[in-house]
Amino acid sequence: MDAIVDQLGRPIRDLRISVTDRCNFRCTYCMPKEIFGDDFLFLAKDELLSFEELERLARIFAELGVKKLRLTGGEPLMRRNLPELIRKLHDIKGIEDIGLTTNAVLLGQYAQPLYDVGLRRLNISLDALDAELFGQINGRGISPDLILKNIKKAQDIGFTIKVNMVVQKGVNESQILPMATYFKNMGITLRYIEFMDVGNDNGWSFGKVVTKKEIYEMLAAVYDMEPAEEEYYGEVAKRYRYTDTGAEVGFITSVSESFCSTCTRSRLSSEGKLYTCLFASEGFDIRKLIRSGKTDEELLDEIAAVWRKRTDRYSDERSEQTVKNRKKIDMNYIGG
Ligand code: GTP
Ligand code: 5AD
Ligand code: SF4
Ligand code: SF4
Repeated sequence: MDAIVDQLGRPIRDLRISVTDRCNFRCTYCMPKEIFGDDFLFLAKDELLSFEELERLARIFAELGVKKLRLTGGEPLMRRNLPELIRKLHDIKGIEDIGLTTNAVLLGQYAQPLYDVGLRRLNISLDALDAELFGQINGRGISPDLILKNIKKAQDIGFTIKVNMVVQKGVNESQILPMATYFKNMGITLRYIEFMDVGNDNGWSFGKVVTKKEIYEMLAAVYDMEPAEEEYYGEVAKRYRYTDTGAEVGFITSVSESFCSTCTRSRLSSEGKLYTCLFASEGFDIRKLIRSGKTDEELLDEIAAVWRKRTDRYSDERSEQTVKNRKKIDMNYIGG
């Protein structure tokens, strides 16, 4: 089958699968405690796509040209038996790369089982090394030591790891340099993420963004860096290499330098809605189709039609107006 492209000529290459909307953190910018409290209604088990449904869909997406899968949440390790799903996905023809984005709280327990089923790449979120600040940001008082211990464990097992740090002005700028030094010394790529206006409740404003340029200048005052080559077409991060150790550092610049023109990512929510942008308002209900007995061919045609119609380029278009007026999906629901 010919590669399908959207209205802007972008092929479909990646599928990001959210396997649960639950999380053991309550990050202030993603699932604030005041909204995601004890009585918050998360999806019920039969509302989630089953592993069999996910495997079937991933095969169909692979036929359409998807080469890369990423599992997200909420917190994906909260989904029971996640390694079993990865084992199934690993066997799909055409899938060249599988990654997992996690907060690493449960990694002490899951790192080895995940490695054993073939997973090799972990992207781990960590916003501060300072214990009090990190506990505040994650909303659960969890200590960075636990995350750092689990990162070390995963590194020793053999995983390729990237650490993601969301930078918010007035919140964790003090952590920019300490984080750089810590992960440079470990030979782990740290990526600074510009705070984004995802979801509807995260209190975002342009003023709370620390841009790549600002962070780069802080680092450059201390370390010598040179640009690193793109790892894959349409890579989300711009990466640099420290000239002394060869370790890398990256920037995810959705706000200051959007990367929509090469965006090949599709997203599947945990209840089986297909989204063609992180900032989309509406998803396409695949679960309904799958549970109404459609054949693989029918599903493939429907998904291809959604992609062919795609015109999304939210980060190119972001303005005070879109920030205020557009209803968006929640981050824990779509997984970033
Ligand atoms: P790699 O394959 O390791 O490059 O993974 P990744 O960077 O695509 O995935 P990860 O889940 O680690 O995402 C890192 C950050 O980039 C998160 O904050 C995501 O929300 C953000 N991100 C990923 N894809 C997109 C995208 O298509 N658009 C925007 N605006 N942000 C994205
Ligand atoms: N802006 C930028 N990144 C975010 N993430 C969650 N919410 C936001 C936001 N508002 C990050 C998480 C995780 C990744 C999947 O997305 O910290 O690293
Ligand atoms: Fe924090 Fe990620 Fe959980 Fe959101 S899904 S609350 S960003 S750990
Ligand atoms: Fe892709 Fe939408 Fe992100 Fe642009 S804003 S890079 S179109 S997901």
